[in-house]
Amino acid sequence: MTITVFHDADALAHELAVRVLGAIARQPSIVLGLPTGRTPQPFYAALRAQTEARRTDWSQVRTFNLDEFVGVGADDPGSYRAYMERELFGAVGVARQHVGFLDGRAVDLAAECERYERAITAAGGIDLMVLGIGANGHIGFNEPAPGLHARTHRARLEAGTRASNADLFDGDVAGVPDEGLSMGMATILRARSVVLIATGEEKTAAVEGMLRGPITTRLPASFLQLHPAAVVLLDRAARPMEA
Ligand code: F6R
Repeated sequence: MTITVFHDADALAHELAVRVLGAIARQPSIVLGLPTGRTPQPFYAALRAQTEARRTDWSQVRTFNLDEFVGVGADDPGSYRAYMERELFGAVGVARQHVGFLDGRAVDLAAECERYERAITAAGGIDLMVLGIGANGHIGFNEPAPGLHARTHRARLEAGTRASNADLFDGDVAGVPDEGLSMGMATILRARSVVLIATGEEKTAAVEGMLRGPITTRLPASFLQLHPAAVVLLDRAARPMEA
C-alpha cells in the first residue's frame, strides 16, 4: 500500500479533492465509491470549493455509497443519503439519476443488496473508491467478526459504530439503527483504485493493524493489503510510529 502522511486533515482533504477532480477531468463519467462519517467532511468541503474554482462538471459522474442504515429512508436527515445530499450532491450538481444508494427501507433487504451489486456491475464497476476506517478497523459496515461477507449484505453495527454516528440522530445513540446495509469486502476490493483516508489519533491503532498486521476478519481494513494499488492518506495524528 502506498502511504502519504499530511501535515493536517485539511491538507489531506485538499490533495484528495484535487486528485478526484483530476480523475473526473480525465474521465467525466467516472464511477466513484463514497463514504460518509466525520473524516470525509473536510474532503467534501474541499471538493465543493475546488469544483467551484475549477468549474468541474459533475453531470456525468456516477456514484455508489458504501452503506446505509436499515429502516432509515432517504428523506430522513439521519440517513447517509441525506448526509451526501448536504455534503456533496447538492453543491456540485451530481445528476440524481447517477446516484447509486442502498435503500434502508426496502421491503426485501436481501433483494435490495442484490440489486445494488447488479447496479455496480451494470455501471462497469467502481473506478475510484474512497474509504474511511473505524477505530475498530471496520470499513463500510464490515465490522470485525469471525467471518466477513464478500458482497453487499445486511450488517449488525457494533456499539462503538452506533455511538460514532449519534450526531446524525441529534446526539441520541439510542436513535441510531443497530443494523445497516453495506458493500462487502469483495465489492470494495473490486474497485480499480482505492484510497483510504484516516485522521486523528483515535485511528492510529486501526491504521497500524491495517498496514502491518496479518490479514484478518478481526480487522476488516487489513483486507486492503490484497488490493493491487491501495493508497492510504493519513494526517500526522493517525500515523503509526514507523509509517
Ligand atoms: C461510512 C463508513 C464507515 C466510516 C468509519 C469512519 O460510510 O463506511 O466505515 O468510514 O466509521 O467514520 P468516521 O469518519 O466518522 O470516523
